[in-house]
Amino acid sequence: MARAHVEQIHRDDVPWEPLRAEGWPAGLEAKTLSRDPATGDLTAILRLPPGWYRPAGHSPTGIELFVLEGTLTVGAARRGYGYYEWAPAGAPQEEWRAGDQGCEVIVFASAGRPDFVPGAALGAAPGAADGRIEIDSTRLDWAHTVIPGPPPGMFIKLLRYVESSGEGLFLASTVPHYDYPKIEYHDCVEEAYMVDGDIRLGNSGLMSKGRYFWRPPYVSHGPFFSTDGMLALITIDSPLINHFVDDPRRSVEENRAEALAQGKPTDYLGGLAQ
Ligand SMILES: [Fe+2]
Repeated sequence: MARAHVEQIHRDDVPWEPLRAEGWPAGLEAKTLSRDPATGDLTAILRLPPGWYRPAGHSPTGIELFVLEGTLTVGAARRGYGYYEWAPAGAPQEEWRAGDQGCEVIVFASAGRPDFVPGAALGAAPGAADGRIEIDSTRLDWAHTVIPGPPPGMFIKLLRYVESSGEGLFLASTVPHYDYPKIEYHDCVEEAYMVDGDIRLGNSGLMSKGRYFWRPPYVSHGPFFSTDGMLALITIDSPLINHFVDDPRRSVEENRAEALAQGKPTDYLGGLAQ
């Protein structure tokens, strides 16, 4: 079982509720954007009230977060909008304290229910490399996308990439008045949260700030037009290539048969990670 196809919901349409995971201190509220009921893996916006505190500890599954609003002090470092962190399963995580105005983050837990265990981390020796990634994404340079298909005017900031699977998370942006008059599909799951701006997806409406989708492989989508430019967080679970179709009514089954006949997709994102 996997997550259900979510094709565009707005965060305002999702209620605040307790986070569907164990071990997190009380006071936290979550908007669950998508979730696999069998494994508990999920994507959610978390609202941490002012001063909310989480002690050091670890998560038995990998978890990544991106700060959307407010400040979050992680260990001794005060983090704000655009801070990205990946904590692999079992890696030590420092204490968290939300700022005076509270903090809002989006978390992606793609390998199971993101429980939290306070106290010592699993098997991590002091000072050992733990595989954590911490990036202030606002200080990264934009790169031209390396994935063939889109016309010039689309840029990405790669935040995480896994060579063995091709999975990754990146920020994508377009210039205003960006016109990508094609209908595409991919072999991978594609998930997106619109941080700012807009992009119109011809067959599924306007993706405006705060909108979200979780789209299974082989679903046709497009064409695309952005009026004000866009800034989106995108995850993929395996290499992404753009297959193009002329007919928006092409079914998932037709797309899958066509893609599989073409063999293994090229892992273009890996080129950017070099
Ligand atoms: Fe796409």
